[in-house]
Amino acid sequence: MEVASAPSTKPWTRKHLVGLRGVSAEELQTIFRRAAEYKERARNGEPKSSELAGVVVANLFFENSTRTRTSFSLAARRLSADVVDFSASGSSLSKGETFIDTALTIQAMGADQMVVRHSSSGAPQFLTRHLNCSVLNAGDGTHEHPTQGLLDVFTIQERRGSLQGATVALVGDILHSRVARSNIWALKTLGARVIVCGPATLIPPHVTELGVEVSHSLDAILGEVDCLNLLRVQFERQRGAFFPSIAEYAHLYGMNGSRLLSARRDVLILAPGPINRGVEITPDVADGSHSMILDQVSNGLYIRMACLALLQEARRGSV
Ligand code: CP
Repeated sequence: MEVASAPSTKPWTRKHLVGLRGVSAEELQTIFRRAAEYKERARNGEPKSSELAGVVVANLFFENSTRTRTSFSLAARRLSADVVDFSASGSSLSKGETFIDTALTIQAMGADQMVVRHSSSGAPQFLTRHLNCSVLNAGDGTHEHPTQGLLDVFTIQERRGSLQGATVALVGDILHSRVARSNIWALKTLGARVIVCGPATLIPPHVTELGVEVSHSLDAILGEVDCLNLLRVQFERQRGAFFPSIAEYAHLYGMNGSRLLSARRDVLILAPGPINRGVEITPDVADGSHSMILDQVSNGLYIRMACLALLQEARRGSV
């Protein structure tokens, strides 16, 4: 069953999605409209479509993942694609095969779209120069995680109606966060005010050049934000001690029930996950009525379906 898409002013033309930098407001809304259509159809008991029948989607994960890998895999299956799931562990990488030879090998099996997660920033961009298939970035180093940014912003827009004039705070380890970068690009494009908040050691120098404000006090900004996106401290990417202790970090930057009392009554609490309960968020907040965490996960499926379908349309349009 084909999805009858709402007409957009321009057809989708991007063959790859490596980041949200430079993605226009119109393109973002095209993705959101398509995701909303898939969500509505699933709600009406029609979760599957045949749009990607005969298309091969390869998921290449060189880093661990729960949400992104699973939802890309399910999204491709919902669109009737053939899915190849590759994990670095257990692969021939251990025998010395290189990243590019691995990707070329999977492409040679007929992959039309390659979903790639890698610890090196720029790895998906590199593949776009060497492969004929479409490349979707599922998170590269500290660079971008575009589908996470899309699903975060879609979740806020779905709840609020618009990002225009909304104040969104990204809290935590901005320095190592690819999610922060993708959120910043999309939020700014859609007219939101963005505050990045965290210890000075975890805020990138010159981040204000991206059009964001900086705060080092969560308590100082709580009363003025519509949404808080609580980023995990990326211990696996840190080379050194960025704050004295986890307890001190949680004390200053963790969202808890007491802080919630100082926030706006309708504040939305997001977290890309995986969450560290008791560090950036306490269980009462993570599981409470303001939490959008599981809505984000659910929306991630529809956002990834939309990205896969649109990229395939661009491929068909360019033949
Ligand atoms: N948010 C996110 O990328 O989660 P995973 O690492 O589980 O995919």
